[in-house]
Amino acid sequence: MCLKYLVYKRALCGEVSLPFGFPQNRNAIFPRSHRTVNVCACAYFNSTMAASFGVCRLPMSGSGKFIKLCHGAVPQTQRRLATSTSALPSRTEKQASTAAKGSASFQAIQEERREQAERSVLISCPAKINENKFLDELTKHGTIDKHFFYNSYGTYAVVEFSSRESIASLKESTNIPAVQHEAAVPFKSRLLALKQTGSGSHPVPNFQDQSPPSINDLIKLLSEQDSIDEQLQCLTKALELSEENISLRFLVCSLLRDIAGAYFPECIIRPFGSTVNSFGKLGCDLDMFLDLDGIYASNQKTQGSGLSMEYQVKRGASERVVTQSILSVIGECVDKFGPGCVGVQKILQARCPLVRFAHQPSGFPCDLTANNRVAMKSSELLFLYGTLDPRVRQLVFSVRCWARVHAITSSIPGAWITNFSLTVMVLFFLQQRSPAILPTLDQLMELAGPSDKCVIEGNDCTIVSDVSKITMQNNTDTLLKLLQEFFEFYGNFPFKKSSINIRKGKEEIKPETSPLYIQNPFEITLNISKNVNATQLERFVVLCRESAWLLQQGEVLNRSSNQTADSVPAWGFAALLLPSVTSGAGVKSRRKKKLEPASSRIKNLLDSLKIKGGDTAAKKGSANLRR
Ligand code: CTP
Ligand code: MG
Repeated sequence: MCLKYLVYKRALCGEVSLPFGFPQNRNAIFPRSHRTVNVCACAYFNSTMAASFGVCRLPMSGSGKFIKLCHGAVPQTQRRLATSTSALPSRTEKQASTAAKGSASFQAIQEERREQAERSVLISCPAKINENKFLDELTKHGTIDKHFFYNSYGTYAVVEFSSRESIASLKESTNIPAVQHEAAVPFKSRLLALKQTGSGSHPVPNFQDQSPPSINDLIKLLSEQDSIDEQLQCLTKALELSEENISLRFLVCSLLRDIAGAYFPECIIRPFGSTVNSFGKLGCDLDMFLDLDGIYASNQKTQGSGLSMEYQVKRGASERVVTQSILSVIGECVDKFGPGCVGVQKILQARCPLVRFAHQPSGFPCDLTANNRVAMKSSELLFLYGTLDPRVRQLVFSVRCWARVHAITSSIPGAWITNFSLTVMVLFFLQQRSPAILPTLDQLMELAGPSDKCVIEGNDCTIVSDVSKITMQNNTDTLLKLLQEFFEFYGNFPFKKSSINIRKGKEEIKPETSPLYIQNPFEITLNISKNVNATQLERFVVLCRESAWLLQQGEVLNRSSNQTADSVPAWGFAALLLPSVTSGAGVKSRRKKKLEPASSRIKNLLDSLKIKGGDTAAKKGSANLRR
């Protein structure tokens, strides 16, 4: 276990590539069951983190009193407690209300979450935390709106106060730890550590899960459903980001903003990508961008006297060079001062320069970029599509899960199809239905009002914000039908000559020879899947054909009626998550056994595919759903 971790840690730092067949993520190395028991692995992880993980200690004595360093703080004593689960609206409630409010509220939702995060703290707690005592202590600093506990290399609590003054009060009563044999960076962040002396018997708090279910658990859960449509709905619920997980993501952005704010007080760190586009799965990365627009906004002042003042600023050769400088410095601060930020890599020569690191207390792999407004806009576009019809998210989650299980996608960069590309492929497919389930991007643009006008770096990113202007067509296809036809559609798509274009909602002649060409929705000269090589595309096509075929088989389509709940064999969508028939001899014989009557058809199918080199790649991580 320790050796695996060492290899993984070095790969995270870019020192080595992960060997073939090696678990591609730390969850696979430290599955949930190991996280608390594997002392060796955790001790190694924590000791390597020690230098950068100088959390402030929040003393909690046996009598439950905070040691106050400053007597000036006047804590509020009113206590309004809410448990995490009762306080937070369910994901689906939120989604439904969002659908009604539409794209305009996308920003409003982000703003609200950001503001909540600024009133929140993240606290490392003893494993046997006494929740009541904990809340009693914290409410001395003010009313608590929400709180929840979770485990990630230790026990943590997220506490959201009603007002920011509570944070100031709490920080004033918090110590910088006295460390022996090393020195602490005295940075007072909102990542704290609670020390508890004495224990006693008390109820264990409810821990929120921040990881997706294992693939075996998911297959079991899906197999217990009564229809394939129910399976896809159930899968979405099991994998989607919980309200707590989204809150934690915004809190991590807010904690990083505190670091960047030392240089740029008006800056905001905004999450984008799957954290906000409604297609995020538990365990997905946290994409962030450093938004400096607030600085420019406050700069447009004219004086009546005819005189005006300007800041003297350092100039760079180009915007890219300035972005690289800023990210380099912020990356350095995150590395040297950011509690819990480990494995920091500055990837400044990328097309979109970024700082990559792991935020250990939340367990999120993080990418921090700057100047990434177009990507934020495409996140908003995806969010809008996700709200128009519930089948959109259900199909996207299912296809993404299927692709991950079969190693079509991966959490590490490479020549694979990415989740973003896959999502756009699903949207494109839904635009092709008759009647169409989703409008084209051009149609969303035509419906836009003057206030929706948005041009970023010369790219027209205008989309309608008033969702009530969008007329949805009456398409009643079931999820099963959509899934079957998705696989058929891409199993036979003319990738050699055509590109995928959600702006026009139709295939176009490829402008260049990349095996897979998916036009970037807003930066229309870019191909979002330029990284994909012919082998990976072929593997995708082969799996689409195989899955389309499987979904025509009676054994797969129907749940066998004479099984007990405990022993339902994988059927329906769950059967598509079993290892592919086109990989692994052992797997082949297992599948062959179940589908023997159709063996001649599958032989013909396999003969017609003539897959080359797909075997080993398909094996890699095939049973691994986590990230
Ligand atoms: N993006 C883009 N063009 C690309 C890749 C990414 O515009 N070629 C933008 C998209 O808005 C995408 C975001 O960057 O959503 C984050 O990229 P990534 O993390 O790769 O995708 P996610 O959608 O976040 O999916 P995942 O769950 O795999 O992280
Ligand atoms: Mg992402």
